[in-house]
Amino acid sequence: MAILTAAGSGTRLGRDLPKALVELDGAALVVHAARRLAASGVVDALVVTAPPGLVAAISGLVGGDAAVTVPVRVVEGGHTRQQSVAAGLAAAGPETDVVLVHDAARPFASPELVRRVVAAVRAGHGAVVPGVPVVDTIKAVSAADQCAVGARDEVPTGANNVVEPVASTPERALLRAVQTPQGFDRALLDRAHAAGAAHAANAPSTDDAGLVEALGETVVVVPGEDAALKITTERDLVLAALYADDGGT
Ligand code: CTP
Ligand code: MG
Repeated sequence: MAILTAAGSGTRLGRDLPKALVELDGAALVVHAARRLAASGVVDALVVTAPPGLVAAISGLVGGDAAVTVPVRVVEGGHTRQQSVAAGLAAAGPETDVVLVHDAARPFASPELVRRVVAAVRAGHGAVVPGVPVVDTIKAVSAADQCAVGARDEVPTGANNVVEPVASTPERALLRAVQTPQGFDRALLDRAHAAGAAHAANAPSTDDAGLVEALGETVVVVPGEDAALKITTERDLVLAALYADDGGT
């Protein structure tokens, strides 16, 4: 079973509709993502999280797409991504043993990547994330003068009045930029979300694997891929178009 998160507003993309409904190559991003999950052959059902008021619209779009060959259920998401995933998890049937969490904002993650993540979970890893080496050197900055958590990662590039002390420079060779789909043993993800629920509103996690790490449990990384890039801004839509026409197979 896969939870496909599509309840965000897409503020940074700046369109007049939610990001998941923005079209590329003739279909909404959420539809592209759903097609590739279905094409993997290892996902038996989808639970899609929708923005308030758009449950029926997204249900029609995704459930009505001929290439989405698995049952689709759409639930209303929450204020944060973490809350949306929790809502999706609550809708998982009792038979669900492996859960994928995937973002509609990564519409071209390939069926092969989906299979790789599920295979690692089935091989006994309780929490699996795709990751790619980073090309930039990454600095951790001091938390001392940070603004509110949540807004921090949305300081626009080019804001030139912010001065941040560097705290450390992690060794680049050991860093991975992580993607979705992330795969989990269902009981472990249930436990991680239950433990993380208390922080969901004021310090939400943007990464389900992070909630598993907070439990002290092991998370493993498998190779990610360029096609699984996340669409955040208009520039990303241009890049994503490079991966749009593979037919989802
Ligand atoms: N998401 C969600 N529920 C939320 C917030 C986000 O289901 N309350 C989903 C988004 O739809 C997206 C994924 O989580 O598929 C990753 O989030 P992000 O890229 O931040 O998308 P948005 O929140 O829509 O964009 P922005 O932050 O620019 O508003
Ligand atoms: Mg967001």
